[in-house]
Amino acid sequence: MVEARKFVFISPDYGSSITENGCCGSGCCDFEAVVLTGNAKDITNAVKQRYGALAERSGKRGLEASENKASDRFYTEEQRSAITDETGGASTGSGNPVVLAGIKPGETVLDLGSGGGIDCFLAAREVGPAGRVIGVDMTPRMVSLARTNAKKLGTTNVVFKQGHIEQLPQDETTVDLVLSNGVIALSEWKHMVFSEMYRILKPGGRFVISDVVTTSPLPDTVRDSTGQWVECVGGAAIKGDYLATIEAAGFTDIEVLNESPGPEGHEKWRSSLRGLTISGCKPAA
Ligand SMILES: C[S@@+](CC[C@H](N)C(=O)[O-])C[C@H]1O[C@@H](n2cnc3c(N)ncnc32)[C@H](O)[C@@H]1O
Repeated sequence: MVEARKFVFISPDYGSSITENGCCGSGCCDFEAVVLTGNAKDITNAVKQRYGALAERSGKRGLEASENKASDRFYTEEQRSAITDETGGASTGSGNPVVLAGIKPGETVLDLGSGGGIDCFLAAREVGPAGRVIGVDMTPRMVSLARTNAKKLGTTNVVFKQGHIEQLPQDETTVDLVLSNGVIALSEWKHMVFSEMYRILKPGGRFVISDVVTTSPLPDTVRDSTGQWVECVGGAAIKGDYLATIEAAGFTDIEVLNESPGPEGHEKWRSSLRGLTISGCKPAA
């Protein structure tokens, strides 16, 4: 049974540790005065803090800032040589969706949770000057790092927008391909993310996303842990539910392109974690 949680944008009414504009107070972001109901204020702000701090470190220390060495694990040497060290340092995905996406010159590609921009820059080479790539990320310091990386690379066909993947800053039916890498597991409203993907895709458009899922329910202590959520673990959906949620959004031809072990660690429950790369289509009109 797919969990359907309430998703409404409301005026903030926070507890004492959250400031009026929805900021956690760490000074890492400029969270706007709209938030999600439920405990999103905790998860969202924790995610922004976690990845804002990583952006800061990557900007200063380049590849050394990388904890999980995602760029080493998932990308080819040729791909790694095409990005800056600061981009590689911020790379925290769970796969390599670009390599499986069959990107064509002239396409418009949107990357959900673009981080330091790794998949955007790799996609930009493939869409060429006639195409464009849009990266969306809610963490201001990540967006800022990605824009700096774009300047360093001299990339002119990529834009980075600050926004939430549950309410994308993109008009409907304007995108040929949606990418995402290690992001949707961080959202409490996965059904909203898939609906938004569907809304912005052109009829006949497609998605290729990498994400973390689980084959059996995670212990409550893991699901309730903000620390595990920000590592793409606590919010990992059960694989069957995840695929059903994609289907419920209207997608067809849903295919698991790659399945590998999920984020590593010593705990027994981790053996159920998987990194999946999945594709699907929005039916042609
Ligand atoms: C694990 S990192 C992956 C970044 C990038 N895709 C990569 O492969 O390196 C997750 C990124 O998604 C962003 N993010 C998480 N939840 C988001 C949301 N609800 N809306 C927009 N961005 C989000 C974070 O700010 C962070 O930059």
